[in-house]
Amino acid sequence: DLKPIVAIDGPAGSGKSTVARAVARKLGLFYIDTGAMYRALALKARQEAVDPNDAPAVIALARHTRIDLSYDPREGTLRVDLDGRDVSQDIRRPEITEHVSVIAKIKEVREIMVGLQRSLAEGRRAILEGRDIGTVVFPDAYKKFFLDAACEERVRRRYLEMKEKNIPVEQQGVQNDIETRDRIDSTRACAPLRRTPDAVYIDTTRMTIDEVVAAVIAEINR
Ligand code: C5P
Repeated sequence: DLKPIVAIDGPAGSGKSTVARAVARKLGLFYIDTGAMYRALALKARQEAVDPNDAPAVIALARHTRIDLSYDPREGTLRVDLDGRDVSQDIRRPEITEHVSVIAKIKEVREIMVGLQRSLAEGRRAILEGRDIGTVVFPDAYKKFFLDAACEERVRRRYLEMKEKNIPVEQQGVQNDIETRDRIDSTRACAPLRRTPDAVYIDTTRMTIDEVVAAVIAEINR
């Protein structure tokens, strides 16, 4: 029996989380949101007043931080714990999002997170979602996807999502955030976001969530 790992990468707002969650539920896969881990560390840095640009301090912090993801397959919900405290909501705040990409550039931080991600997936049929899943975390993944969408569409989606969650944001702020993060995430030296030929590319700009989910499942079952 093979142990199918499904990898989904793509820029912010491309629909990765929504699609990965839905596919996980339909196929009974374990869901791992790797961005949540970087977000949890960014939250801790903020709580401890550690400057995200101070790499040695962030690395030291990362070594003394416990991050746990618990996925409930029945409910389809994901809880993120930081040092034993539920931070699932806090990590989505705009001021955390603003600094997460700076922290995610740090090689030693990535090594810690990648280790966590691999051990979480160990022995499981899992779908992982992030920026470097198919390239670094699981280069031998059973199936790899790269989800993309036009920038305006990704801004629109993220803006609506934040409004739905009652997080106060402005359209311009969301656009700035997405542009800045995309730039940092795809130009960093360590594990940059990259579309590779072995990943199935899906431009979701004009697709509904259900259509993307169906396309991903069809490809997995092929
Ligand atoms: O997916 P999400 O938008 O929550 O990710 C937040 C940030 O975490 C990304 O902008 C990126 O800087 C970082 N990240 C990463 N590698 C991953 C997942 C997320 O560098 N695999």
